[in-house]
This record gives sequence, C-alpha cells and structure tokens, in this order.
Amino acid sequence: MASETLTIVDNRTGRSHEIPIRDGSVKATDLRQIKVSADDFGLVSYDPGFMDTAVCQSKITYVDGDRGILRYRGYPIEQLAEASTYLEVVYLLLHGELPTQTELENFTEEVRDQTKLPDGVERFIATFSHDAKPTGMLQAAAASLGSCYPEARQIDSEEIRRQQIVRLIAQMPILAALCARHKMGLKFLPPDKSLTHTGNFLSMVFNRSEGPYVPHPVLERAMEVLLILHADHEQNCSTNTVRCVGSAHADPYATISAGIGALSGPLHGGANEAVLQMLHQIGSVEKIPEVIKRVKAKETLLMGFGHRIYKSYDPRAKIIKQTAYEVFEVTGNNQLLDVALELERIALEDDYFLSRKLYPNVDFYSGLIYESMGFPRDMPTAIFAVARTAGWLSQWEEMLVDPEQRSKIARPRQIYKGAEKRDYVPISQRREA
Ligand code: CMC
Repeated sequence: MASETLTIVDNRTGRSHEIPIRDGSVKATDLRQIKVSADDFGLVSYDPGFMDTAVCQSKITYVDGDRGILRYRGYPIEQLAEASTYLEVVYLLLHGELPTQTELENFTEEVRDQTKLPDGVERFIATFSHDAKPTGMLQAAAASLGSCYPEARQIDSEEIRRQQIVRLIAQMPILAALCARHKMGLKFLPPDKSLTHTGNFLSMVFNRSEGPYVPHPVLERAMEVLLILHADHEQNCSTNTVRCVGSAHADPYATISAGIGALSGPLHGGANEAVLQMLHQIGSVEKIPEVIKRVKAKETLLMGFGHRIYKSYDPRAKIIKQTAYEVFEVTGNNQLLDVALELERIALEDDYFLSRKLYPNVDFYSGLIYESMGFPRDMPTAIFAVARTAGWLSQWEEMLVDPEQRSKIARPRQIYKGAEKRDYVPISQRREA
C-alpha cells in the first residue's frame, strides 16, 4: 500500500525528508526539519492571503466551491433555508445537532431573557452622528458590552462562555436595530417578547407606532432565510479574524467586534452595500456595457461577483435571488432589479467572467432586498454581522475547546526583506531628500 507520506529532496543539501500526510495536508512545522545547517531556522511555508493554508480542523461548516455545495453540520443550506428558522440554525451551529422541540423552546426562552441591554448602551449609540456607518456603530457597541459584562473574560469557564454566547445572539439584533433607528431618526423601542426573534428585529427597526407591530409573514420569512444563509461560511476573513483575536483570549465581545470590523470591508461583507451603491450609480440597463468595459479594463470590480472558494454559482445567491422575487411581490419591484438581472446575464455570457469562474455571490441580490424592505441603504452589512455572529461564536467556541488550538496564540511568521542592522542617526545629521 502506498505510504501516506511526502518525500522531499532538498537539492541544496541532497538530503531527503519524509513528511506525514494527514487529511490531505502536511503540517507546516514539519518543514522546519529541512535546513541547510544546524543553525538554520528551517523552511517555512509562504502563503499571502492563505491561498493554500488550513488554519484549523473544524466540524461546523462544509463548502465545496467547485460544486457549489454549502452545509452546516452536514445539513444542506437549501434544506435549512427551506424549512428551518434562524434560531434553530444558531442552535445547530453551536451544538452540532438540530434541537428537539423542547430544546428549541428552552433556547428561544434563554435568548429572549437576554434581550435587555446593559444601562448606557442605548445612550452610547445615540451619541453617534446620524450619518455614522452602522457597522462602525455596531462594532463599537458590541465591544462596549465587554465592559458591562466583566465576567466574560473568564473564557475558560464553559458556563460563562455559554452565557455570553446567548447574550450576543440576543443582543446583536437589538444593537443593529438601534443603529438603524438612530439613522432613521426614530425613537428607540423596547423588544417585543411576543414576537419571534426575527419578527422582533423587524419590529424594533420598523415599528412607528406605540402599539404592537405585526411583521408581514413573507418579509419575516425572507429575513429568516437571509439570516440563515449568512450564519456561517467556514474560514472566511472575518471568521479567521475572530479565531485570531480569540486565540489571544480576548473576551467574546472584543472578539466579535473585531469580526465586524473585518466583515465591513467591501471585498467581504461590505460587498452587499457596495453592490447597492454600484447599482444606483449604474441606474439603467443602457449603462451596463460601459460598466462591463471598465471592469474588463480592471478599472473597477463588479461588486457581488467572484469568490475565493466558489468557482461555480454561490448556492446562497441562488436562494437569495428567489427570495428577492418573493419580497418584491410584497414591496413592489425594486427598479434596480432589472439592472442587476441584466448585469448578471451579460457577465455570465462574457469570457472575462467565465474564464475566471466569476459568478454572483451571496452579496449580489441581498442589498436590493434590504433596501426594498425599507432598511437604510448602509444597513445590509450590519445585518450580515447580526447573522454571522452565530458562526463566529460557534467557531470561537470550537477553537477554545480544541486542545491543539487553544494553547496556541495565532501568530504567523514573516519573510523579512527590510534593512540590515544599521546605527541610529541623530536628526541633525540626517540629509533632507
Ligand atoms: N470583478 C472583476 N474581476 C474580478 C472580480 C470582480 N468582482 N473578482 C475577481 N476578479 C478577477 C481578478 O481581477 C483576477 O483577475 P486576473 O486573473 O486577471 O488577475 C481574477 O478574477 C481572480 O481574482 P482574485 O482577486 O485573485 O480572487 P480572490 O479569490 O483573491 O478574491 C474576492 C475573491 C471575493 C475578494 C473577489 O472576487 C472580489 O473582490 N469580488 C468583489 C467583492 C465581493 O463581491 N465580495 C464578496 C465576496 S462573498 C461574501 C463574503 O465574503 O462575505
């Protein structure tokens, strides 16, 4: 039988090294034995952008980018989006199994019990200017919770970790709703415990009366689906940030706040807002050929297209497109849908996109849906963060209980290319350029 090893011959020394292969991977630290001399540090792997580096073992989310497959804990995303609720998916991501009816009821109750924000957090959000970016407000507000719950620093206690996880699941939508209302110039409302987790989020954003709010069932379901689709996506940029910050044993609020910062970038979660902005700028289908020309000339990116992992249609984008039609049945057509559909049609026939395997991703249609539902145009990424909190917390917890990872602070190496040692020159002796 073939041996599960890799033999590397170092042509600098003529020596041969045998390295074990496990799960289709070699350990980067096994390369350290490959040296030219005893005092040589040994080989390191160089991988900017983590193009071919696995940073952890995980049991949470499976993605096959070539075949367009996404599963949470083994369950296909299509089935979860069809039949599940966001809180059920949160439970699944955190616990590894779907809850029984009683487990779901207890979990829902636990989350509902934690919806009261600590004193001062509402006032903190109100101090931002009305045109502040919601992701910035959310990031600051999430981090501020850490000072309200100092016990959260005890990350070794399973019970305390669990308490913070439930708090974050309960309070992130509330923080996001307050950010939205602040932008809309509306008075903050308390949570309505008679509504579902998602219904309450919609109520806290959109209720303009003193009385109860009844979410439209189609919009509430669409919101559930959007939250489910965004709940986790294995080792993406923000999740890697969360694992990295968590590896320093920062409290979960600081850790999640860092994740929001990473997510806000336009190449990551910020793409949904960038797509909206792009569609508004394009405005009408006649202008599309000009935009495609600029994209192909590398003057700009087609936002909402392309993915590091998916080299076929993002399965989430397929579901979101369908959800968009359902939402527009209720809200009336978003006129920019025609622009988006035509952009997609042209791009999917063009060799530039086909040869690079660039397809619409999760962010291509989601911004249009949120805008049609009435959210401020710069809210979509903050809502993405609310959904992704479930994945971030599951990955954070998984990292902390994995003996191989929890004892290791994330600390990459570098290949130093800077100046050799040189002596300090007093400022009076430095020559102006
Ligand atoms: N528009 C035009 N060209 C593109 C695009 C795009 N959206 N994306 C990639 N390319 C080109 C890129 O210029 C490169 O061309 P060439 O081979 O000629 O140099 C080729 O396709 C490969 O791209 P890459 O940048 O090496 O791919 P990557 O895996 O490093 O980047 C990405 C992935 C998502 C950052 C990138 O596709 C992108 O910037 N997309 C637009 C932003 C976006 O929609 N982001 C959301 C991603 S999904 C949700 C999430 O992550 O949260």
